[in-house]
Formats: sequence, C-alpha cells, structure tokens
Amino acid sequence: MSNGNNRYTRVAILLHWAIAALIIANLVVGYVMEDLTGTARSTALNFHYSSGLTVLLLTVVRVVWRLTHEPPPHPESMKPWERHAASLGHFALYLVMVLMPLVGWAVISANPPIGSEGAKAIISGELGSKVDAADVRRASRKAPRMIWGVVELPEMGFLERIAETPDGVRPQRILHDELAEWHKVGGYLTIALLLLHVLGAVKHQWFDGEAEFARMGIGRSRADKP
Ligand code: HEM
Ligand code: HEM
Repeated sequence: MSNGNNRYTRVAILLHWAIAALIIANLVVGYVMEDLTGTARSTALNFHYSSGLTVLLLTVVRVVWRLTHEPPPHPESMKPWERHAASLGHFALYLVMVLMPLVGWAVISANPPIGSEGAKAIISGELGSKVDAADVRRASRKAPRMIWGVVELPEMGFLERIAETPDGVRPQRILHDELAEWHKVGGYLTIALLLLHVLGAVKHQWFDGEAEFARMGIGRSRADKP
C-alpha cells in the first residue's frame, strides 16, 4: 500500500478517512437516535443504516486493497511489541468495521415482514401485553427501507421470516433485543478501540517524533521535506 515515502497510497488514505468519518457519524447518530421519535427517528435511522452499510462496502474494498498492497514500513523507532500492538489494534478495527454493520443489519431484519400475519397480529392488539409501542411501530412499516433513498435494503430473510406468523412474534422480539444489545456493546468497543488507535498515533507523532499522521495523509512525511 506504500508509495515509497512512508505514506499509504492515495486510495488507502481516502478509504481510511471516508470509513472513519462514517463510523464516527454513526456512533453519534446511534446514541442520539435512541431519544428521538417520529420522523426525526426514521430520518436518523435512514442515515444510520445507509452510512453503516456504506462502511461495510468500503471495508470490503479496503480489505481487498490491503491484501494486494504492501503497507509502508514501520519507523525504526517502533519497538517489536508496539508493532504487534498496532497490528492487533488494526485487526480489531477491521473486525468492528465488518461486524458492526452486519449486526446492525441483523437487528433491523429481525422484525415481522411487511403485511404478514405476525405484523397484523401486533397492530390489531390481539397479542395484548406481549407487545409494546416499539413493536407496533416496527410492525406498521409499509414500504421497504431504502439505502441513501436509492437502493432497496435487502432484509436478512431468515430473521425476518421468524415472525411471519403470530407464534413467531415473541421469539423474534427476544432475538431482536439480544442483537440490539450486541450492537450496543459493539458501539462501546468501537469507541474504546478508536481511542486506543488515536492515542497510539498521537504517541508516535508527538512523543516519538515520527511523521505518523503523514502516513495517513495528514501533513508532510519526512521524504517530502526539503
Ligand atoms: C473509526 C475510525 C477509524 C478507523 C476504523 C480506523 C482504522 C484504521 C485501520 C484499520 C488502520 C490500519 C491500516 C492498514 O494497515 O490496513 C489505520 C491506520 C491508521 N490510522 Fe486509523 N482509523 C480510524 C480513525 C483514525 C483517526 C481519528 C486517526 C487520527 C489520529 C487515525 C490515524 C491513523 C494512522 C496515522 C494510521 C497509520 C498507522 C500506521 O501504519 O502507522 N485513524 N486506521
Ligand atoms: C459503522 C457501523 C455502525 C456503527 C458504529 C453503529 C453504532 C450504533 C450505536 C452506537 C447505536 C446505539 C446503541 C444503543 O445505545 O442502543 C446503534 C443503534 C442502532 N443501529 Fe447501528 N451502527 C452501525 C451500523 C448499523 C447498520 C448497518 C444498521 C442497519 C442496517 C444499524 C442499525 C441500528 C439500529 C436498528 C439501532 C437501534 C437499536 C435499538 O433499537 O436499540 N446500525 N448503532
């Protein structure tokens, strides 16, 4: 991925910052969304899943890029344990970049299919106290979700179909909440990894005197300097 002056290539840098911006936006929107209702909530959720699935797509491109390009060599001052820690941290970030969108996608898919018997039973109130307002809101959806308003979001059918009939409503709800919990924990994990990642970069830049940020396109690398 290197271009000879200790900098990732332009494509790698562009992908890194696009993915970073979308993930950070998604963390903010994710937490804010919880307190929203009505149109504000659905607008936020539309942005959230569109952005998250874009992260998934860009990450696939990035992983292919990474596997076919050599990254720039680490600076000499970096100790072996620091190199291992950096590789481990990057690997964990890649996992987050793939798993967060997939689990989020699973959360959204674990809802009754539009117009199914399960959805009708929830809306009609025949399931009584087994369902709440959030279930009714999710079961009342009339149109498929659209990514960036353009591409239809395919639901994960095997999760959606669980509540095709009223019998499946309760088990699907349990699974939905379980997946949402994993997604929430994943959000905290993402923040922790991001903080470690930034702290690592700051350490190399400011304390070790390396042109660390320049590796990812911020400022000039040593080779650029006159
Ligand atoms: C959620 C946001 C972010 C994610 C998911 C992320 C992910 C990654 C990953 C996976 C790599 C390894 C690249 C590779 O070799 O394949 C990397 C490298 C890097 N990132 Fe980030 N990053 C994020 C935010 C940031 C931020 C805010 C900074 C600013 C300090 C930053 C600075 C860097 C630098 C300097 C490198 C190059 C590391 C090196 O090889 O020396 N990243 N990032
Ligand atoms: C970069 C990827 C993503 C990140 C970092 C992220 C982060 C978050 C965060 C922090 C929350 C708030 C969690 C809480 O406190 O309950 C959240 C909620 C949510 N996310 Fe994501 N998300 C991502 C991708 C996705 C995708 C692709 C989808 C759907 C296709 C999705 C669907 C949801 C849903 C439905 C909720 C609300 C869950 C609930 O009802 O509790 N997310 N997300």
